[in-house]
Amino acid sequence: MLEELKKANEYIVSKISENDSHILEMEKFALENNVPIVTKEVAKYLEFLVRTQKVKKALEIGTAIGYSGILILNAMGRDGNLTTIEIDQERYNQAEENFKKTSHDGVQQYLGDANDILPILEKKEEKYDFIFIDASKGQYQKFFEVAYKMLEKDGMIFIDNIMFRGYLYNEYPKRFKTIVTKLDKFIDYLYEEHDFVLLPFGDGVGLISSKN
Ligand SMILES: C[S@@+](CC[C@H](N)C(=O)[O-])C[C@H]1O[C@@H](n2cnc3c(N)ncnc32)[C@H](O)[C@@H]1O
Repeated sequence: MLEELKKANEYIVSKISENDSHILEMEKFALENNVPIVTKEVAKYLEFLVRTQKVKKALEIGTAIGYSGILILNAMGRDGNLTTIEIDQERYNQAEENFKKTSHDGVQQYLGDANDILPILEKKEEKYDFIFIDASKGQYQKFFEVAYKMLEKDGMIFIDNIMFRGYLYNEYPKRFKTIVTKLDKFIDYLYEEHDFVLLPFGDGVGLISSKN
């Protein structure tokens, strides 16, 4: 969460209540097992966009335990279809169990590096009207460039954590120099080449429309 906006974010989160026992169970699991999942205020915005954009076919890069995937599926409704990619076998399995607990059958899970899976999907000429990028930040531009080719006209790409804990404009630990530099250049590229907005909430959210 961006430090400067911490109180505003905390206030927003305090107003959000969740009753779905499975969603609550996944949140608890993520907290107890240090699985990074989308924060609540970002989750609400993600659901809102998916619902209001009437998304029916979504791609997610970074499944983790299936938390955001299930939010996207719920927001799409019964005829929604989600393709989601996860590199870690254990998380892939946990997500599989979580998807089984829902009433959705339109889920395609891929196990592997998104750098390998995305070209496979592109070759199959798959198109998506919503793409959620939420995996290794140092590779965001690589993921984006392939994903963008699969975006439907009037589609949208949602990138989470794009301001990387505020390290793009504050002091940061030296070990993050490569990621910070890549993300900073990526943001310049998005502003120059795409229809892009950068939103300073959660950990920074980037939205890109397919129109440019
Ligand atoms: C922040 S978590 C995703 C959280 C999930 N979207 C949610 O909000 O419930 C990022 C996930 O991306 C996965 N990941 C990292 N690099 C990846 C890659 N190159 N390809 C596919 N998955 C990757 C990690 O294993 C991790 O589970």
